[in-house]
Order: sequence, then structure tokens, then C-alpha cells
Amino acid sequence: MDVLAEANRLKSLGHPVISMAVGQPSDPAPAAVRAAAMRALEDGRIGYTDSLGMARLREAIAAHYGEHYGIDVPAPRVVVATGSSAAFNLAFLAMFDPGDRVAIAAPGYPAYRNILSALGIEVVEIGLHGAGHLTAAHIAEAHRVGPLKGVLFASPANPTGAVIPRADLEDLLATARDLGIAAISDEIYHRLAYSAPDVSALAFDAECTVINSFSKYYCMTGWRVGWMVAPEPLVRQIERIQQSLYISAPELSQIAAVEAFSATAELEAVKTRYAANRELLLERLPGLGFRLAAPMDGAFYAYCDVSALTNDSMDFARRILAEAHVAVTPGRDFDPVEGHRHLRLSYAGHPREIATAVERIGRWLGGRS
Ligand SMILES: Cc1ncc(COP(=O)(O)O)c(C=O)c1O
Repeated sequence: MDVLAEANRLKSLGHPVISMAVGQPSDPAPAAVRAAAMRALEDGRIGYTDSLGMARLREAIAAHYGEHYGIDVPAPRVVVATGSSAAFNLAFLAMFDPGDRVAIAAPGYPAYRNILSALGIEVVEIGLHGAGHLTAAHIAEAHRVGPLKGVLFASPANPTGAVIPRADLEDLLATARDLGIAAISDEIYHRLAYSAPDVSALAFDAECTVINSFSKYYCMTGWRVGWMVAPEPLVRQIERIQQSLYISAPELSQIAAVEAFSATAELEAVKTRYAANRELLLERLPGLGFRLAAPMDGAFYAYCDVSALTNDSMDFARRILAEAHVAVTPGRDFDPVEGHRHLRLSYAGHPREIATAVERIGRWLGGRS
């Protein structure tokens, strides 16, 4: 956030800053989504919805599981939330108690650690040390040290973009089930994988919890609408928590989100641009001395080990911003232990900008004494 604030300050002074720091698409929401929102606004009243979400949207989400994964998900298990961020809160409150141990990967999305800690849940950060993703062996080992109540993972992941291969995901879920560990799969970067089809955790464990969102693939970050497929026995409890915490996700965003599933042609065009950016980075990063810390198989991130160039990625990011006018994200928030050696680059921007950013970083590195 400090780097972003400085990037905004430089931009306001007229510097041509390119951001590879933001974790969001640069494209607008699909036209049909915006048109539905405009119609709803013209019609007038926007109110609360059922706490679990509008029936139409819950049904559309359930149908998406059939269409995209060939999985049968009953609409009553779908909970619409104010972004996946709210879905985490709902899931953690329904599934865990203060003092429970829940495992996450390091590096990982910082909000996991922050929300779990705020709820008094013990966060067990499992260092991947270049392993790419959490495995069955990781959680079995952590469970041996002290019983885990839950495990939370994302595939594709933030900040690495790593995808858990199908067989490893199956193993991870089988081990969690055998050990009585509740699994939560963050699938927010689904439909943004470049080398293998998406596999939902629901394919292997029909009773696990899956969290997803309209933010990333669907280009709807600011609409604040996401969803959870909850284990059937928890739905009523989640409904009651949602009634108190959020009442419901915003109705306007829910009405609009129904249209997102029919905007595939538009959204695939956006993904094609990410894929081109990814190719460019795969080609150019090694020459910059930015070593990939994990295969960038999904999302729109490259997580790079820059230890050949610096031992302080925060300072390095500040200098890249000040001197090359490119904003990148230092790794510390994603990994308190090893993040000082890493940078995350987001390639969600326009290909021309990404190419210019890479050139600038190259020139800056060449000119460093
Ligand atoms: C892995 C992951 N999960 C969840 C979120 C939160 O997304 P939202 O609340 O917009 O659905 C993000 C946002 O960057 C993320 O990277």
C-alpha cells in the first residue's frame, strides 16, 4: 500500500508511472453487466436481498458449476457475499473458533492471515520454500505438530500464479478429509489458467468449502460481489451470520452479476491479452535477473526471486518506482519470512504498458552502479 500511495503521488505530479502493482483487471465489467445495472437503476428501487443472495444469481452460479466443471452444485449451497473478502469472514466465523489452528501457504494472499488473526484463529503459515503450492505432505506434517482445524489454499494463487496440479489437489483434499481438517479452496482466479483446465476442489470433495468472486476473471472488483459454495450443514448458520454482518451483498451488483456468465467472448478477449503479457514476461524476466519463484500458470502475477539483485525488495521496489517509474509489489506482505527477496509483478495491464514497464526496468538495471 505504501508503494501504491507513492505511485499515486508521483502520478499526481505528472510522472508517467506504470503500475504492475495492482491486483485487478484494467478492463471494465462486461457490457451486458453494465447494461443490466443501468436498467436496474432506471427501474428505481435498490434494496436488500435475501441474505444468501438473489435466487436468480444463486441459480446462475450453480449452473456455472455444471457448465464449466461438469459438477452438480445445488443452488441452496450457494451463498452470495460482498466479494470473496466477506465470504472468508462468513466461512471462518461459521467453521472455526478462537484458538483453532488453520494452515495457509507462505507466500499467500495477506488478507487470509489478517482476517484469521483478527478472529483469534491461530494462523499456521507453511513456508513453501520454492515448492510452488501446498501439498498433502505439508498439511500432514503441520497436523502432526499440532492438530489443524482447517486449511485454506488458492489455485491459481496470489502472489505466485501457481496452479495446484489435479492429482496433487486430489491428494491434498483426501489427506485433509482423512485427518478431519476442513478444506477451504479459494478459486477466485479460476478461468485465468494458461496451461491446464480449471479443477474445482468440489470435484474431489463435495463437502468442502469453495470461495469465488466476480472480481478477477469477470473484471468486477469494485462491484463487491462474490460467492461461496458452503457445506450444506453450514448454510443456515452462514445465513444468520450474514444477516447480522452484511444483511446482504449489494442488490445492484447481484442483478448485474447474473449477466457475467454470458459475457464469455468479451472476457476471453481480456484473458488473451493477459496471456500475451505472460508470454512477454516469460521471455524477458530471466534476462532481468528476476527468477520465477513458482511457475506462473494462472492469475495475472509473476512472483520473482530478486535475491541476485537485492536483499531488500521493499527498498528495491521503492527505487524502481522513483527511478524507473514502474510500481511493483515487494514480497514482504505475502511472506513475512522470505518476502524480502521477492517482488510480485501484476500483468493485468495493457500489453503496451507491460512491454514499456519491462523495458524501463531493464534500462534502470543496466544503469545501476
Ligand atoms: C487470492 C485472493 N483471494 C481473494 C481476494 C479478494 O477478492 P474480492 O474480495 O474482490 O473478491 C483477492 C484479491 O486480490 C485475492 O488475490
